[in-house]
Amino acid sequence: MERNILITSGSAGIGKSIVKKIVECESFHRMIINYGHNDEAAEELKASLPKDIVEKVVFVKADMSTVEGLDILVNAVKKEFDHIDWLICNTGIGTYAKFEDYDIELWDKVMRTNVTIPVFLIQRLKNMFSYGGKIIFMTSYSGIVPYSSSIVYGTSKAAVAFLAKNLMKEFESKGVCLNAIAPGFIETRWQDGRSQESYDRINAKIALHRFGKPEEVAKITYDVLTNDYINGAVIEVTGGYGYF
Ligand SMILES: NC(=O)c1ccc[n+]([C@@H]2O[C@H](COP(=O)([O-])OP(=O)(O)OC[C@H]3O[C@@H](n4cnc5c(N)ncnc54)[C@H](OP(=O)(O)O)[C@@H]3O)[C@@H](O)[C@H]2O)c1
Repeated sequence: MERNILITSGSAGIGKSIVKKIVECESFHRMIINYGHNDEAAEELKASLPKDIVEKVVFVKADMSTVEGLDILVNAVKKEFDHIDWLICNTGIGTYAKFEDYDIELWDKVMRTNVTIPVFLIQRLKNMFSYGGKIIFMTSYSGIVPYSSSIVYGTSKAAVAFLAKNLMKEFESKGVCLNAIAPGFIETRWQDGRSQESYDRINAKIALHRFGKPEEVAKITYDVLTNDYINGAVIEVTGGYGYF
């Protein structure tokens, strides 16, 4: 079956690696790749795709931290797809602000982007899911073990992981599987500006003594998308963080 696939935040980092993995392994019908701001990165990804694939791909610029962005993406999906097979909710933002410097706006922005908007994306697209469809959430190991200094990020990602289990009931009649991937430390722009001291400190706590590659997260994401009996799982991809 040729699938319709939607990925949020698919123009860079882990999302881009997931797009590349799907393009490499899957003969799909249509794919919508959402991104928030950076046209250049989206153009770069587009230029790197084979010509026959580009024809099947639609890039949708929509800021998924806003209700306006949600509206833009939902309208694009309704225009481009008559059904959805795979949805990858990959958008996530964090903050390095100290807890004492938080204000409600900052807390609300992270929670809205990481939890609220994905919930309403799914609510508004629910009727379009085909039987046996798949939904994947990108959560984080920091939503399982509170190692991160960012309390709001960890709390939002814990909620995301819980959604994969909680929404199963809503999709039971459609046989849709919902799962979450929980990466540890992955080499994307997320790590920009990290000092060597910080790398060394974190690597000392990882059994494999290195950060993960976005391709390694993409591979397990694809494996879960193509498995018809994993449902409600939260899959850790950490290289063995906290092993010592
Ligand atoms: N990297 C890690 O160590 C790590 C660990 C655990 C979990 N994760 C999770 O993995 C997911 C992807 O992270 P990543 O490391 O790949 O991050 P990233 O490199 O910062 O992600 C880049 C992608 O996110 C998009 N994006 C950012 N803000 C957006 C917005 N408001 N609306 C729509 N798209 C937006 C970017 O598009 P634009 O630039 O065009 O906005 C781009 O496509 C996130 O949910 C993150 O929480 C990452």
